[in-house]
Amino acid sequence: MADIAQLEQETLAQIETAADEAALEAVRVGALGKKGAISALLATLGRMSPEERKTEGAKINALKDKASEAIAARRAVLEARALEARLRAETLDVTLPAPESGFERGRIHPISQVTDELTTIFADMGFAVAEGPDIESDDYNFTKLNFPQGHPAREMHDTFFFPPDSMGNRKLLRTHTSPVQVRVMLAGKPPIRVICPGRTYRCDSDQTHTPMFHQVEGLVIDETTHLGHLKWALEEFLKAFFEVKALKMRFRPSFFPFTEPSMEVDIQCRRQGGEIRFGEGEDWLEILGCGMVHPNVLRNCGLDPDRYQGFAFGVGIDRLAMLKYGLSDLRAFFEADVRWLTHYGFRPLDFPTLAGGLSG
Ligand code: DAH
Repeated sequence: MADIAQLEQETLAQIETAADEAALEAVRVGALGKKGAISALLATLGRMSPEERKTEGAKINALKDKASEAIAARRAVLEARALEARLRAETLDVTLPAPESGFERGRIHPISQVTDELTTIFADMGFAVAEGPDIESDDYNFTKLNFPQGHPAREMHDTFFFPPDSMGNRKLLRTHTSPVQVRVMLAGKPPIRVICPGRTYRCDSDQTHTPMFHQVEGLVIDETTHLGHLKWALEEFLKAFFEVKALKMRFRPSFFPFTEPSMEVDIQCRRQGGEIRFGEGEDWLEILGCGMVHPNVLRNCGLDPDRYQGFAFGVGIDRLAMLKYGLSDLRAFFEADVRWLTHYGFRPLDFPTLAGGLSG
């Protein structure tokens, strides 16, 4: 009898102080398991007289029920506590800045950035993007663009030629993006309004020239486009690109075989120390070549020059990047030095938009 009261006290105390679910399970096994203390008491019933069994049996069963209930209650408490601790440990503060991932550490090269910027600007003006191959035919790179055979302008391009094929034709690495104009005109009828960004190649290397560089070509052909449209489009582009409200431009007569008249465009700037600012100052900086597409080019590309007309322009993307982002040595662009890219590169999530700002 004393046994039962003591066992009850001890068992309930152990249940109450079990620190976690594993400890509680050990207590349960010690009391109610096959070899547990309460189970052992129950086993003594068989040896009792019927009267004893009646009274003792009731007490032992009551103890068993009490212990079971206490264990269940304690288990509920411990489970709730464990859940709470886990929730506290696993909380995620969604207002904290995201930890830097590999994606965040990567950088967009200034050339890609500037290409994205100018594509955004021209897309907003209704231009589509056209592309052509880096390996071109002599015909598309020169002849169709009105460079006659033997014309000195061909030599000025410092062309990388491939060995001639069995027909004697030499492929080449395109020296400018202008052959994409040819491809666009041959592929479809006006109205045409495209820009053609891409890689170009010339055998040349110094601080401002690399054998591989980038240009963007522009081409607009329809029945009415004139030089005034060319001036407007270039002014809008340059203002948007350099992110200035106003920008003075100067058109100088020039020569390109594929345009007539041909012009070079200078933009107003101020040179201060090593820095250059656009949209102010008294200095001029040459920025691009342009003109009205030569009737011979239209004809070579299957368009009737008495019906169609339009303008073209060509800009060096690397030069735009150097000017806008103050980079002085073009060769560094292609040295693949991660330290340079980390410094001059752009964050991948800051994609340029006209609404959100081009350069972030
Ligand atoms: N293709 C010329 C170059 O490489 C650039 C250029 C000038 C393109 C005038 C044009 C243009 O479309 O009209 O140097």
